[in-house]
Amino acid sequence: MMRRIIPVENGSLTISLELDGVRVQAIPGESLAGMMFARGVGIFRWTSGGKPRAPYCAMGTCFECRVEVRRVGQEPVVARACMTPVEDGMVVNTVAPREKL
Ligand code: FES
Repeated sequence: MMRRIIPVENGSLTISLELDGVRVQAIPGESLAGMMFARGVGIFRWTSGGKPRAPYCAMGTCFECRVEVRRVGQEPVVARACMTPVEDGMVVNTVAPREKL
């Protein structure tokens, strides 16, 4: 289980991004997966057959943690949440309608 070692309540250390349409705070340097687990997200994507998926390896190998990520001024991409650090202004969706990986 990924855990935060710094409490997010320390406002000076946080950045802001959007997760499934909700504005959330995150700690610079933490992974998307860490931020999402800390917020109680248990399903990161769905298979084409409707099965829920969540991080398995947490080291970039299994690709089960794929989420859709849109950075400021860029087109959405599918990224591995365990390998992608949070960024200010980032938009993250747990259901990736156009998976490219
Ligand atoms: S959890 Fe396996 S690649 Fe992210």
